Amino acid sequence: MTTALCSISDIQDPGSKAFQLAHNSKIFDIFVIHKDGEFYAFINSCPHTGVNLEWLDDQFLDRDHTFIQCATHNALFEIDTGQCIHGPCTGEKLTPVKIEIIDNSLIINLDISFL
Ligand code: FES
Repeated sequence: MTTALCSISDIQDPGSKAFQLAHNSKIFDIFVIHKDGEFYAFINSCPHTGVNLEWLDDQFLDRDHTFIQCATHNALFEIDTGQCIHGPCTGEKLTPVKIEIIDNSLIINLDISFL
């Protein structure tokens, strides 16, 4: 499933944004991180319990904008890999979503076969 999410200018650097995608009457929550000019996308589901990660709307980064932080038990994840490096799911990973930039738009390719 390939979908245009938004313009690259819609997410501050550093910053993050949540999206909900509908496909075959199912809703998929994903989020995008913009950091140091690069974009990263993940399924919005903490590997600890499966809840969404954000603190507030579109707030996925810790205070220093160094890690993705889960709001429920404060697990920290590397932005570039989704690897959990602190918290109850240390060693597990967020599920990455392929993302690319085409004509200043963020395009994701969500492989729904594994969801
Ligand atoms: S639900 Fe994310 S760390 Fe527990």
